[in-house]
Amino acid sequence: MTRNIRIAVIPGDGIGKEVVPEGLRVLDRLAERSGHELAFQYESFPWGCEYYLESGKMMDDDGLNRLAEFDAIYFGAVGWPTVPDHVALWGLRLAICQGFDQYACIRPVQLLPGITSPLRNATEERIDWVVVRENTEGEYAGIGGRNLASRGVDREVAIQSALFTAQGCERIIRYAFELARTRKRQKVTSITKSNAQQYAMTLWDETFARVSSEYPDVDAEQGLVDAMAARFVSHPESLEVVVASNLFGDILSDLGSALAGSMGIAASANLDPERRHPSMFEPVHGSAPDIAGRGIANPIAAIWTVALMLDHLELGDEATAVMDAIKATTAAGVLTPDLGGTATTVEVGDAVLSNLT
Ligand code: NAI
Ligand code: MG
Repeated sequence: MTRNIRIAVIPGDGIGKEVVPEGLRVLDRLAERSGHELAFQYESFPWGCEYYLESGKMMDDDGLNRLAEFDAIYFGAVGWPTVPDHVALWGLRLAICQGFDQYACIRPVQLLPGITSPLRNATEERIDWVVVRENTEGEYAGIGGRNLASRGVDREVAIQSALFTAQGCERIIRYAFELARTRKRQKVTSITKSNAQQYAMTLWDETFARVSSEYPDVDAEQGLVDAMAARFVSHPESLEVVVASNLFGDILSDLGSALAGSMGIAASANLDPERRHPSMFEPVHGSAPDIAGRGIANPIAAIWTVALMLDHLELGDEATAVMDAIKATTAAGVLTPDLGGTATTVEVGDAVLSNLT
């Protein structure tokens, strides 16, 4: 019996179009080596900034309906200098995350063999954690407005409200505790700023205390985001599972990627843990207009993302095989320029394929 897995592919803009094909090659190789047990079927969607300039839309009006029938969505990156960033992001990536209630954004950070961290004492043991970012509300709830521009350019006002619901806090915090039970150390660190944000973030903190009492086997700690940002650098080994709001999780995961060597290796999953809708898998990085079109984008983030997708599809052995192939590639020094190497996107993809045993 062949298991057919249907994947919606949205390469998007810039280097999204260069790295996504490398991830698809990895899936094709997995299908090949499964001896017909696995088959991946792709449908590619042209949505992104070019599409917007032609049609006035980042994605078709029935986009969510069409995506709903797939087992997973594989996404590159969105954004290009010709379209305002907030239009591009809200029209596509955020529309999908909110539309499918993909509330858990999972971003693993791990120092890979052969990669140099900017931290002096970095080791593969010390840099190994996962950021669990709330992905549907918080500071990115999209609530607010701009008004009074008629009074003059220097009199306009803007309000951007953060939305925290007890249910939204609880489900992401619970996800973090469940994840911690599967990790090498059972520990969850919650990051807020409740000394300054006294309403929303105390709701988060109290929810964290309540949920943590249900997990006596998991260490629970809370910290303020400014001090915790410093801890990421000074004591990275103290982190295991980090749970944070949409904005804080976004920022801290980029910090983590830089500590692990480059934005070019950071992978992420936007999960609907209840599996009511397809989940979306995408590298953390954006479209990188500064290097797009030169064939030097690091495809590892996109390939690691494929491993996260395989995990979600309950193909754990295949996910491990992909991670092992990535590690063999970096250990052998086959690296793109962002990691100090000279390899091209396709050369790194080739090396991962040849290490995929
Ligand atoms: P970016 O992630 O595209 O690039 C930041 C820096 O990291 C650049 O110097 C870039 O060359 C480098 N970089 C990123 N990925 C790399 C890779 N795979 N290999 C080698 N180097 C890599 O972030 P930036 O420049 O802030 O944003 C560019 C565009 O992407 C903007 O329009 C932004 O809105 C969008 N964006 C989209 C995201 C998404 O689709 N989820 C996430 C972040 C940004
Ligand atoms: Mg980000």
